[in-house]
Amino acid sequence: MDLQEAARRHLWLHFTRMGSYDAQHEIPIITRGEGPYVWDEHGNRYLDGLSALFCSNAGHGRAEIGEAMSRQVGELDFVTNWSYAHPRAIELATRIASLTPGDLNRVFFTSGGGEAVESAIKLSRAYHRLHGKGQKHKLIAREIAYHGTSLGALAATGITSLKVPFEPVTPGGVHAPNTNEYRWPEGRDQLWAADQIEERIVFEGPETVAAVILEPLQNAGGCIPPQEGYFQRVREICDRHDVLLISDEVICAWGRLGHYFGCQRYDYLPDVITSAKALTSAHAPMGAMIVSDRIAEPFMHGTAMFAHGFTFAGHPVAAAAALANLDIFEREDLCGHVRRKQGEFRGMLESLRDIPIVGDVRGDGFFQAIELVRDQDTKESFDDEESEWLLRGFLSGELYRRGLICRADDRGDPVIQLAPTLICDSEQFEEMEAVLRPTLEEASKRLHER
Ligand SMILES: Cc1ncc(COP(=O)(O)O)c(C=O)c1O
Repeated sequence: MDLQEAARRHLWLHFTRMGSYDAQHEIPIITRGEGPYVWDEHGNRYLDGLSALFCSNAGHGRAEIGEAMSRQVGELDFVTNWSYAHPRAIELATRIASLTPGDLNRVFFTSGGGEAVESAIKLSRAYHRLHGKGQKHKLIAREIAYHGTSLGALAATGITSLKVPFEPVTPGGVHAPNTNEYRWPEGRDQLWAADQIEERIVFEGPETVAAVILEPLQNAGGCIPPQEGYFQRVREICDRHDVLLISDEVICAWGRLGHYFGCQRYDYLPDVITSAKALTSAHAPMGAMIVSDRIAEPFMHGTAMFAHGFTFAGHPVAAAAALANLDIFEREDLCGHVRRKQGEFRGMLESLRDIPIVGDVRGDGFFQAIELVRDQDTKESFDDEESEWLLRGFLSGELYRRGLICRADDRGDPVIQLAPTLICDSEQFEEMEAVLRPTLEEASKRLHER
C-alpha cells in the first residue's frame, strides 16, 4: 500500500489544511521514534523539538513503559472507572496525590486534556450548585489561550478563529487580557493583567462566576509567562469572590517547567489542576482532573455524586504506562535536569537575537518561544500576507526539511515554539541552533527583499 496515497484518500488530519498536499507537498509520515528523535517514512531523522505536541516528555519509545503496558494487558486489560476501581488507577491516583502541592488529593481520570477541562468546568458549576449558588456558572479565561475543542472547553478557549465556525459554544465563557507584556505600554502596573481578571468578575457579577481557568505559562500566543506575583494576586481575587481557580496544566505539568506541576514553579495553590499529555509521556492517552479535598468534599457524602464520566478514563493500561513513566521521572530526575539545563537552552535562543526578525525570546523551563517581528526596535509585526508567507510558506517547511520539528504559529503574533523532550541536553541544543540560525537568517533576508 502506498502510505502517501492512502493518507490523502482516507485519513483526516486535525487542524490541517488537507488541500495543501499535492505532488510537491507530501503529508509528513512519521514511522519511528527513539529518545529525542523521530524518523519519517524515507528514513530522515528529526529532532522532536515539540515533544510530539508537548507529550513525549520522557522521550520516545521508552521500552519499560511498553513492558508495563504489556504486563497490564496480561493481568487485567480493562475495567471502567464507572463504579469500579482497579489497582493501577488506585496506585496512580495515590502517586499523583503524593506529588501535588497542598490538599490536591482527589484524582478524576479522563482520556485527554479537553476532557479534563470539560470535567473541571462541570465540577465548578456542580460545586457551587451544591452550596446553593446555582447562578455561578461563568468561566473567566484569557485571550488567545487554548483549552481544548469540545464545546465546553471551547467556551474557555480564547482564540476567535477556532470558535467562530462552531458557534454558539457553551454559554458562560468570558475573557480577560493575558500576560504578554512584550507589547504593553511602558510603565504599566506589573499586576495589571491580574487585576483585569477581577474587573471581569465584577463586571459580570461575582454571583454568576464559577471559575477562573489559567495555564501557568500560556502556550498559545507563544509561551507567555506570568508576571512576578500574578498568581498570588489571582488567588486573592478568586478567594474574595468565591470563584474556583483551575490551573490548566495539560502542557505545564510533568516537568515541562522543571517541576511536576506548573503551579509549583510559580508557587500558587489552585483548587483544581487539569493535566494530560505527558502524564504517560504519551505512550497511552490519559488525562486527569486533580481536585482539592475542600472542593471534592461535598461530593463524598450521602447521595451526592459527580454525575459525569468517560468510559475509557483511568484505563488500566494507560495507568500502568503513567506509573512506569513516573518511575522514569523519579529515577532520571527529569525535573531537576530541566532546572539545571533551562538556562543553557534559553541562552541558545537568546543568542539568536542578532537576527533582524527575532523580536522577543520568552518562556520557562523547556518551553520557550521566539516572537518574530518586522522591526526589532518598533516591535512592528507582520501583516497577514507576510505572516502567511513567513510561517506557512517558508518556516514550517524549511525547519522540517532541515530536521527540526517545532511549531511556527500565528494564533497571536507570529512565533516559533520549542518544547523539546526533557532528556535533551547540550548536543540537542546545538542541533537546534544549527537549524534555527540559518533558517531565520534566510527568512529575514527574503522578507526584506520582498
Ligand atoms: C492548556 C491545554 N488545555 C487543554 C488542551 C486539550 O487537550 P487535548 O488535546 O488532549 O484534548 C490542550 C491541548 O493542547 C492544552 O494545551
